[in-house]
Amino acid sequence: MKIDPGDSNLQDSSHLMTDIVVPRPIAWVSTVDENGVFNLAPFSCYGLVSSFPMVIGFSVGSYRDGKKKDTIRNIELTKEFVINVVTETLGPAMNITSASFPREVSEFTKAGLTPVKADIVNAPMVLESPVKIECRVIQIIEFGKPLVTSLVLGSVLRLHIADEYWNKKSGRIEGLRLIARLGGDGDWYCRTGDTFQMKRPII
Ligand SMILES: Cc1cc2nc3c(=O)[nH]c(=O)nc-3n(C[C@H](O)[C@H](O)[C@H](O)COP(=O)(O)O)c2cc1C
Repeated sequence: MKIDPGDSNLQDSSHLMTDIVVPRPIAWVSTVDENGVFNLAPFSCYGLVSSFPMVIGFSVGSYRDGKKKDTIRNIELTKEFVINVVTETLGPAMNITSASFPREVSEFTKAGLTPVKADIVNAPMVLESPVKIECRVIQIIEFGKPLVTSLVLGSVLRLHIADEYWNKKSGRIEGLRLIARLGGDGDWYCRTGDTFQMKRPII
């Protein structure tokens, strides 16, 4: 089987790529709009771009009618956002926030989550999430026609890590139990608990 991008429509492409690129971490992105309404939505086209300097990237597609999603509208406006991690227990709440609520409705209220003030940016953080990352936009790259996808590159300004997950001795984060997105028919996820170790060769 060989497939070229030109042979695929929106749905086929999405199925193909989300089956191949797995598991995908979930950026649970909080932003604020021009009227102060707090927005929250998950994005799994997400990854670590660089750890030193700390840069993360995630992309936001358009709705099928071409309209931009609230997350990207808010980021274009404010140039700021927060990424909150999604633990196993926060999965159901994250799922609620993926519904396309009207712009004036806050997903925080719909999902029963608590917005808390960030230190540097005006976007709120999800209190219930154990790690929050305050970010400022470095660049937004748009591609695709007529449906535009926006790749957001963000510089990390501050990390907030709940004490219970911070191992002072090793200086590392431990025991987060995050979930990640898979492909497949239906809405599949995995837990990040099935791990094994493979030491890199020393030459
Ligand atoms: C786990 C998960 C991952 C998602 N990943 C993406 C993504 O990478 N890109 C995207 O455009 N939409 C993605 N979505 C859909 C958005 O979350 C959804 O369109 C949301 O309503 C956008 O909200 P907003 O208009 O408040 O920005 C994802 C949904 C879920 C449940």
